[in-house]
Amino acid sequence: MAQPRASTDQENAPLLDNDHDHDAHPSSSSPFAKIFSPSRTLSFFEKVLGGLAVLLLLLTGVFVGLFAGAEGTLKKERQKGGKVEWKTEYHTTTATATKTSVATTTVGSVPTGKPDPKLCLTPECVTLSASIIKSLNTSIDPCDDFYEFATGGWAAANSIPADKGLWGAFSEVQENNKKTILKILDAIPASKPGKGATTDELNLAKLKAVYTSCMDVDTLNEIGRKPFIELSDHVVDIFGPFDLNPAPGSSFVDEAQEWQGAYDESYAVSDELLASAEKVSALKEAKKLGRALAHLDRSQAPKIDATDVEEYSFSSERRQKITKTLAWLDARGVDALVNFEIEGDAGGEDSQVQSLWLYQAFGGLPSKEYYEEAPILDLYQSVITGILTDIAEHTSVRREKSKRDFLDDIAALEDEAELDALIEKFDDLVESAEWPWPWPSDGDNDGKTSPGNGHHDTDDEPVGKRIEKLAAKVVKFERDIVRAGADPEYLFNPHFSYNPYATEKVSKALPFLDVPSYLSSFSPRVFPTNITVTHPPYLKSITKLVEETPDYVLSGYFITRLALTHGSALGPKVTIRQEIRRLQEVLRGIKKGTEEDRQDVCLARVDNILGFIAGKEFVKEAFSPEAKKDGEHIIRNIVQAFSDKLPHIAWMDEESAKAAKLKAESLIPKVGYPLYPNTTNPESLQSWYSRLTIKENDFFGNVLRSTLVEESRVWLGLGRQRNRDSWEMYPQTVNAYYSPPDGEIVFPAGILQPPFYSQAWPAHLRYGAFGAVAAHELTHAFDNSGSQYDEKGRLRDWWTKDTVKNFEERAQCVAKQYSKYYVLDDQGKKVYVNGNLTNGEDIGDSGLAQAFLAWKQSADLSEPQQLPGLPFSEEQLFFLAFARVWAQLTRPATAVSRVRTDPHSPPYWRAVGTLKNLDAFHKAFGCKAGSNMNPPKKEQCELW
Ligand SMILES: *[C@@H]1O[C@H](CO)[C@@H](O)[C@H](O)[C@H]1NC(C)=O
Ligand SMILES: *[C@@H]1O[C@H](CO)[C@@H](O)[C@H](O)[C@H]1NC(C)=O
Ligand SMILES: *[C@@H]1O[C@H](CO)[C@@H](O)[C@H](O)[C@H]1NC(C)=O
Ligand SMILES: *[C@@H]1O[C@H](CO)[C@@H](O)[C@H](O)[C@H]1NC(C)=O
Repeated sequence: MAQPRASTDQENAPLLDNDHDHDAHPSSSSPFAKIFSPSRTLSFFEKVLGGLAVLLLLLTGVFVGLFAGAEGTLKKERQKGGKVEWKTEYHTTTATATKTSVATTTVGSVPTGKPDPKLCLTPECVTLSASIIKSLNTSIDPCDDFYEFATGGWAAANSIPADKGLWGAFSEVQENNKKTILKILDAIPASKPGKGATTDELNLAKLKAVYTSCMDVDTLNEIGRKPFIELSDHVVDIFGPFDLNPAPGSSFVDEAQEWQGAYDESYAVSDELLASAEKVSALKEAKKLGRALAHLDRSQAPKIDATDVEEYSFSSERRQKITKTLAWLDARGVDALVNFEIEGDAGGEDSQVQSLWLYQAFGGLPSKEYYEEAPILDLYQSVITGILTDIAEHTSVRREKSKRDFLDDIAALEDEAELDALIEKFDDLVESAEWPWPWPSDGDNDGKTSPGNGHHDTDDEPVGKRIEKLAAKVVKFERDIVRAGADPEYLFNPHFSYNPYATEKVSKALPFLDVPSYLSSFSPRVFPTNITVTHPPYLKSITKLVEETPDYVLSGYFITRLALTHGSALGPKVTIRQEIRRLQEVLRGIKKGTEEDRQDVCLARVDNILGFIAGKEFVKEAFSPEAKKDGEHIIRNIVQAFSDKLPHIAWMDEESAKAAKLKAESLIPKVGYPLYPNTTNPESLQSWYSRLTIKENDFFGNVLRSTLVEESRVWLGLGRQRNRDSWEMYPQTVNAYYSPPDGEIVFPAGILQPPFYSQAWPAHLRYGAFGAVAAHELTHAFDNSGSQYDEKGRLRDWWTKDTVKNFEERAQCVAKQYSKYYVLDDQGKKVYVNGNLTNGEDIGDSGLAQAFLAWKQSADLSEPQQLPGLPFSEEQLFFLAFARVWAQLTRPATAVSRVRTDPHSPPYWRAVGTLKNLDAFHKAFGCKAGSNMNPPKKEQCELW
């Protein structure tokens, strides 16, 4: 899936709507790409969640999950400095910043081991210097609590915005990048490009039109629900009505009693629920990382048995209309009943071949746990009632029109007698409850069908009441679907989810779906021979559910999926949008009625719709070719340092080390911006978006058309090789990822910004911050997950058994160590990190050793540079630059829910935990053995 599904915060991707916070987080669409920042990476889920926000808000913070890699060609570009030794003698200094000297110092007294460093007085260095000074808390002993020493001043000067769960250095970068994009948008002339306009001007006019169409809320409110109704009418036309009167088999009380009345305004979503939603996103992340959870054993994965399903029968008419409806929805980014994805064939011979995967469907609530919570179900049901009632209200208006159309048809008849007879029959039909059309038969013609407003025939119920019953059935149906799915830790573990079956077998197991027709409507030229089924037992469960569920409930379910996916693109005052918002507010724990920042909403939409055009401008504004070169150079040096060290790592045998070296050298690093589409080339961008028509006064249409184009782009890739120049992220994204099946480590221009990077900084600062990100990503290729993928990105075991065993021992050392770390809840009680959960990320962080090594090796070749006003050695500044990136304030509830679910350790421990194990750090700050930051050796863990 080549198209990044961009960021999103506020509103979202056309497909989804996971809004949340105000930080634009990119999300990648490949299920395996491993993202640096745990917070937002939901594209798949975003889709899946159908637009409900996920509490990512809370997550907004960001953690970097870095991954790294190097290209085959790197080998040739070995460091020019000649010999690269894996074991470096550090010029360490013993200078320790003392409590008093820091803030006031001048340059002269720098205790570095190198001869006369030059003072860097460029504006970038001076700014950085000031920023570091402000971040410090020099009354803390760096050997006691390095995090507080490095970031205490920052924490004192910052606070968490009211609508967020946390605020950190990452959030600052995101805000800055947003400002850059806004500036770009502002500079685009409002007038239409003339005849002689350049391609760039045409692209930019398109960009501006998307933004303008989104910002114009007055128009959006005025247009109202109309554009959505056109969609829902279509579903009803294909599939049939959801609003039947009387609803057959209405046992409303049975359906809803479990949760009816359980929600009241004072209900607060519990930490556990918030956490479970995060867990889904975190695990999705884990999936991207390909992390194998140690306790999972592939052989436990259940298989399908096609003979099980033969007892179900679906009429061919029902099968055809379900197939048509699902295909129509899928093309618009709406997943229902089943969920097809196109992803690399991780377990096959060539992981670059884009193959078809079949996932379970997800519901409108963020995770399974929500479907067991009465107050949430009660609220959810009332939201669905609100949405469907609003739509039914419209369809009753449409019924009048249909009647007129019918009458017109009749009027065309020649024979008068025939005509009279028909008209009579028609009147009877209209009066009868058997009226076969999908419109409610309440007698009021004013279009109002709010509860209690229907007419009072004994057979008829008010529309609102009827829809409430329907909504209860839809919620129950969705709950059954979600219960039938695998838990996320299984779903996103490739060892479980990689279950290829012949397409024919899957077809048989899904008798309600005409799989060949479905597939040929998306991909007429390529018919996949295999489908990878992530959770085989789901096929049987969903078949049974569909068989048992009446069509009008299915129709209500389809319309609900459609509304939760696209309803957020309606004007903020439109009922459907407001109903969705009502749910989001509770799920996200934001105050009722909080206005969304429209600018944030629209910037996220711009990313989703035309992210590469915005990216080109962002790069022009904020990322130089020199920075790209330098970033690549840093990555190469780090990969090289690691690769050279591999043969000398005691716990790796020769065979494993050789394979690891091959893998390290095969990793492909990508920096800045993609070349597919070629984001440096306006023609390439124009052609990439050529099928997308943008209209200045049609925001909903822009979103929908963009979804259609992107979905078809994805399907076009089926069966083909992935384009190696494509990315999972936009250039402006503040994140990085390692994609195990692609063997790529990717760093968008968006993260090569302060405090991660500036080309103007001295090497020790670039390696300490950005280098740490790169080393983290690189190390992921060798952590407990990365070690499942070989140098070609295939799921294979390529370490020897002994090496795996040795590695596991060391990994467990890290897991035990981190399990002693904790955060405080709002009562001040300790909540411990789950070291097993965070193991892969903690190991990734241990890659800092490689960044240091690479810097030392390259630093020998360059002139030392000093920052003004900072009495620290280069080694010390390297570690300060590293720790600064983790500056973050977190509300206790957010901290707790993250500890329970986030595969990354809390920022404090990402900094402190990493440095405790690193001798280079102990030496740099002269931390005595036994000090807090230099614990006894037996309490330390060493991997590399
Ligand atoms: C620095 O740390 C000390 C000791 O914890 C604390 O009292 C002080 O407020 C901190 N100063 C700043 C600027 O954060
Ligand atoms: C299809 O899946 C089967 C296992 O069910 C496997 O043996 C076969 O190699 C796969 N074929 C392709 C083309 O991937
Ligand atoms: C991308 O576009 C630039 C500028 O037109 C061109 O120089 C470069 O060769 C293109 N790269 C690829 C991979 O198409
Ligand atoms: C972590 O995993 C190890 C090895 O699988 C296991 O022995 C240990 O009990 C686990 N710890 C927790 C807290 O789950």
